[in-house]
Amino acid sequence: MARKIAILGGTGPEGSGLANRLARAGEHIVIGSREAARAQESAQQLRANIGGAAQIDGADNSAAAGQCDIAVLTLPFSGQAALLKQLKAIWKPGTIVIDTTVPLAATLGGSPTRLIGVWQGSAAEAAAELLPAGVSIAAAFHNLGAELLAGDGPVDCDVLVCSNDEKSKQVAMELAAKIPGVRALNGGKLENARIVESITALLIGLNIRYKVHSAGVRFTGLPAK
Ligand SMILES: NC(=O)c1ccc[n+]([C@@H]2O[C@H](COP(=O)([O-])OP(=O)(O)OC[C@H]3O[C@@H](n4cnc5c(N)ncnc54)[C@H](OP(=O)(O)O)[C@@H]3O)[C@@H](O)[C@H]2O)c1
Repeated sequence: MARKIAILGGTGPEGSGLANRLARAGEHIVIGSREAARAQESAQQLRANIGGAAQIDGADNSAAAGQCDIAVLTLPFSGQAALLKQLKAIWKPGTIVIDTTVPLAATLGGSPTRLIGVWQGSAAEAAAELLPAGVSIAAAFHNLGAELLAGDGPVDCDVLVCSNDEKSKQVAMELAAKIPGVRALNGGKLENARIVESITALLIGLNIRYKVHSAGVRFTGLPAK
């Protein structure tokens, strides 16, 4: 059976953008939301935009997580711990979680260009503590803004993938590379997510100062693929 990718919190711009790109690449997507009806509406909208044989369903976050092989977390940091606690008994063994969360101060009413301090070091490391044995995590997509993910044009960005689990890292890198223009880079251990998450705060500031929505990162001196 073809794998399914749940995008939890997928009704927002980042999750919808990733759903758009991954569905266009032929993946079967399940949008997750706190409200099943909202997820189904988003899924319907995405199918209409993409057309053709796009496979995108909608479900509440628990139902989406329980039927997936890969789950992408695209909700604010303020909701991450509660959702992961709710899902602890729901995950199928072997599920790969891909965390995109940036712990921006904005999630608690502060500035979108600053991070809040996370005791574990990063949102991804905080998430890792809330996963049961047999469910692994990679951190990815933090530096790829939602506006770049809408549509189908090529993006000019590297995506750093951090994980302590080789399979999760490989799967996240493979998904990132499906987005036209993206180069997936091995970002090392999950602890490096603290660096990658912080770059997003900097990118948001650059977007504001240069009045664009497209700031991203490219590393030089590395192989093209
Ligand atoms: N936006 C970007 O350009 C961007 C770029 C890189 C990384 N990210 C990261 O991606 C994540 C999503 O970003 P976004 O801009 O799409 O966020 P968002 O619009 O604020 O939230 C996404 C979805 O999360 C759900 N949600 C909101 N609060 C929640 C809570 N307390 N508990 C559970 N679910 C909640 C909502 O869906 P329902 O109401 O349908 O449940 C919402 O549509 C964030 O962690 C962000 O740091 C975003």
